[in-house]
Amino acid sequence: MTTLTSAPLAPLLDRLFDEAAASRAKIAPAFADLSEADQMRLMQSKTDYHEFYGRLKDVPLPVSRATGTLLYMLARRFGARTIVEFGTSFGISTLHLAAALRDNGGGRLITTEFEPSKIARARDHLTAGGLVDMVEIRQGDALQTLSSDLPDTIDLVLLDGAKPLYPEILSLLESRLRPGAFIVADNADDSPDYLARVRSPGTGYMSVPFAEDVELSMRIG
Ligand SMILES: C[S@@+](CC[C@H](N)C(=O)[O-])C[C@H]1O[C@@H](n2cnc3c(N)ncnc32)[C@H](O)[C@@H]1O
Repeated sequence: MTTLTSAPLAPLLDRLFDEAAASRAKIAPAFADLSEADQMRLMQSKTDYHEFYGRLKDVPLPVSRATGTLLYMLARRFGARTIVEFGTSFGISTLHLAAALRDNGGGRLITTEFEPSKIARARDHLTAGGLVDMVEIRQGDALQTLSSDLPDTIDLVLLDGAKPLYPEILSLLESRLRPGAFIVADNADDSPDYLARVRSPGTGYMSVPFAEDVELSMRIG
């Protein structure tokens, strides 16, 4: 058995994924006052993402179950000890990553979120899952919270915050990525600049699209 597949985490994740699926009904009403063009503009903006996610502060928006399992498997296979996550929300992906660190014998997981109510929920979930001791939650905008005090080397990154910021967040972390580090970018199709960067030869990455709009990239060199 693993931490991911046994109690208390497994039944907690079943409940959280069920609640997340039910909460998707709140997404459309949160933008009902905006035209489709304004919704797109908001989603693609490098400056208005606080408003975009502020409208979704009661919606967990987690990675899929398959992506969560992929995160756990990648972290386990490579014995990850240092993980950085951009976009905590209710902590569902965080729970997968923290479980892998626990089963790897320990490590450091830094995650960041600017919505205080989401951080409170994530902390409650990590406590219920018995994993709160594995995680440092940094409150604030990732452009600031991930700009200092990073581990010397980073084994695994999950990008799952504002999509237009993926290139900037990668730049903050890049010098710390160890050769062979994996970067999982959720909904990467919404970040064309990021995809262009990690897929371009000579930028230091190998990268492939993976199931369900996930881009899986590896730092080389
Ligand atoms: C898709 S959700 C993350 C879901 C989470 N990774 C999971 O699977 O459970 C994106 C989250 O990132 C947060 N976020 C977006 N841009 C951010 C930024 N620049 N700094 C910190 N948090 C950000 C949003 O508030 C939102 O809660």
